[in-house]
Amino acid sequence: MAIVIFSDIENIDQWIDALKKEDPSVDVIHREEIKDNTFVEFALTWNYPHGLFREYPSVKTIMSMGAGVDHLVNDPLLPENINIVRIIDPTLSQDMFEFTLAVIMNRLRMLTHFHENQRQKIWKRKRYRRISDISIGVMGTGVIGNHIATQLHKTGFRVSGWSRTRGGSVPYNKLHGPFQLDDFLRNTDILICLLPLTPATEGILNRKNLETLPHGSWLINLGRGGHLVDGDLIELLDSNHLAGASLDVFREEPLPADHPFWSHPDINITPHIASLPDPWSVAPQIMENYRRTLDNRPLINVVDRKRGY
Ligand code: NAP
Ligand code: GLV
Repeated sequence: MAIVIFSDIENIDQWIDALKKEDPSVDVIHREEIKDNTFVEFALTWNYPHGLFREYPSVKTIMSMGAGVDHLVNDPLLPENINIVRIIDPTLSQDMFEFTLAVIMNRLRMLTHFHENQRQKIWKRKRYRRISDISIGVMGTGVIGNHIATQLHKTGFRVSGWSRTRGGSVPYNKLHGPFQLDDFLRNTDILICLLPLTPATEGILNRKNLETLPHGSWLINLGRGGHLVDGDLIELLDSNHLAGASLDVFREEPLPADHPFWSHPDINITPHIASLPDPWSVAPQIMENYRRTLDNRPLINVVDRKRGY
């Protein structure tokens, strides 16, 4: 038996090194090294083509190489008996928080604006807003969203979170469900999307919901590109209802060269980099799920395939 990696991510050797360091007795191989497809029971994967796992009839567990599992649960050809597990990692959540804080502080203190002025040798001061002036709304207060909302609250922002269910007690204001969505949006200056992509959340960043945000709000999308209706965002920026957007995820990645987001003056683009999983940090939980798969024991960080996350 072996851990088989189905992915072409650029640092594949680091993942293999980290897993071998965690347990040198376990074989870790790439898909191309498989000699017999019926030998694969545990797959580690990111963005494989739909239908691929029908060719591997013995697979019991597929582990996502990231927090998101839309690439797996949205595969209509994925056999139903396969368990999906994902990464839950404090380092990854903290990386997401650090990125979010950097984006927010850049916005508050207008560093990109002053950098543009520097290029034109313009010396012009502009009044800035303080942390205590800003209401943040975190859409999706799961593992990552809750960490970000809690840290932003500790940093001094007014923070509200919104999720599907009420959940347990949290230090920030918490709303949930479709009936509280408008209330949540009406009180948000900076909206951060950290939802998983499911049929219920696809297109949730649409004209109706973005229009409910106060005039001059800012959007940060760190969830998935499918949450955003691209044309609605552009119209709301052009009509000045929204002041700007920071987008890390896109319907098509890499973002096509002719996409209007590239040249929009109020959009900041990053190449899906809010966090990158650290192979050494996540290797123990991968190895744990591998052993549990071999022993037929209950897995950790299991995804509810019906719920979609
Ligand atoms: P998670 O723990 O599964 O949390 C998901 C949250 O979304 C939960 O709070 C859930 O509500 C809420 N939710 C789901 N469906 C909803 C709906 N229909 N209405 C309202 N709320 C809903 O996921 P996570 O680990 O925090 O990750 C979230 C997402 O972040 C991932 O799926 C991925 O797309 C994205 N991500 C992006 C990057 C990046 O680099 N840009 C990196 C990592 C992850 P309940 O609490 O009520 O269940
Ligand atoms: C990245 O987008 C992830 O889901 O980990």
